[in-house]
Amino acid sequence: MAILIKNANEVITMQSHVEGPRRKEQMSELGLMKDVCVLLDGEQIVMIAPLEELEATFPHLVQSAEVIDATGKIIMPGLVDCHTHLVHGGTREHELNMRLSGKTYMEIMNAGGGIHYTTTKTREASFDELYEKTYNHLNDFLRYGITTVEAKSGYGLDWETEKRQLEVAKKLQDTHAVDVVSTFMGAHAVPAEYKGNEEAFVELIINDMLPKVAELGLAEFNDVFCEKGVFTPEQSRRILEAGKAYGLTPKIHADEIEPYEGAELAAEVGAISAEHLLVASDEGIEAMAKAGTIAVLLPGTAFFLRAPYARGRLMVDSGVPVAISTDFNPGSSPTISLPFVQNLACMNMGMTMEEVLCATTVNSAYAINRGNEIGTLENGKKADVLILNVPNYKQLQYFYGMNHTDTVIKAGKVVVK
Ligand code: NIG
Ligand code: FE
Repeated sequence: MAILIKNANEVITMQSHVEGPRRKEQMSELGLMKDVCVLLDGEQIVMIAPLEELEATFPHLVQSAEVIDATGKIIMPGLVDCHTHLVHGGTREHELNMRLSGKTYMEIMNAGGGIHYTTTKTREASFDELYEKTYNHLNDFLRYGITTVEAKSGYGLDWETEKRQLEVAKKLQDTHAVDVVSTFMGAHAVPAEYKGNEEAFVELIINDMLPKVAELGLAEFNDVFCEKGVFTPEQSRRILEAGKAYGLTPKIHADEIEPYEGAELAAEVGAISAEHLLVASDEGIEAMAKAGTIAVLLPGTAFFLRAPYARGRLMVDSGVPVAISTDFNPGSSPTISLPFVQNLACMNMGMTMEEVLCATTVNSAYAINRGNEIGTLENGKKADVLILNVPNYKQLQYFYGMNHTDTVIKAGKVVVK
């Protein structure tokens, strides 16, 4: 059934003449319209125009449409969370006091906690347990206005469990309203059983896991945690190049904790995105701007690890297309609140209210290769539409830490009301 949304104060379409990920001042183009209605039909956006124009162009559709009254509210595209570790077993609240009293993230991980703890919990969890837990997380995402989520594997670190994580993501893509886009991240950590024999694990990923992921069509992207004590830039390069040969697009966890020339590596291997970048070098930022690598910034992780924030302002000013995401995971960022993360990007990375909207819609859609389908409201794009309970978009960041989501329409269907 068609849907007609009337009377909104503002419609943030995110439309622009720019094709592809946006940079610099392009990131501030909101395509803001007033006195227009939004007409949806099937899974698509039909037209955004004044009511009289819609009535003249699509008389039957307008007449038969279900009407939603958005008086006093605004409309914008569904949010795209382009970096999460969605499917995992267990939680890690026991690590919080350890970190608050001075233990570092890497110390906890090297002592067998951190990613290793979650790997154990994920290996222990059945398909159904993981599916049900993740289904509930996706319900939370949806309530906060996120309509597409990227999901990385990487808590199996053996084929059986990596495959189970990816298959859970695939089933959720088929069954849950939120769209789920999969990334293989076998190179998330070296599992305990390969300690001291790291090269053998790298070989296992390259010769065994990557071909199987590709053959089974379980992921579109291949990600590596390039970090001191995890995977070296050289190992990361080999894993990413091997993935490319199997048609998997490279992504990289780069320069998260210590500078390691991860941003430079992302530019060099033609990664679609480099993610985290808390301590990326000036040279790395320049290289990314030149290569067009999208910076996926995750200020929730800096907040939760109490680490310095990525230099988002500098990246935007340097011409890097910037996206923002939650990094939802049980260790360094257990939140699904992309709206709160937008707020952190404003307050702690100096990005503007307009830039963070672009970074969580258009640019985050491009970071998962979905820029042609979602991220803006325009004719023919997927009808992923939010109605937010604020009179203007600036209040989204002003009344911070709140969920302003009123109604969520996913692929033309009302899924949150
Ligand atoms: O993006 N840095 C590596 N991976 C995640 C954290 C994973 C975890 O702690 O469970 C991240 O921060
Ligand atoms: Fe991450």
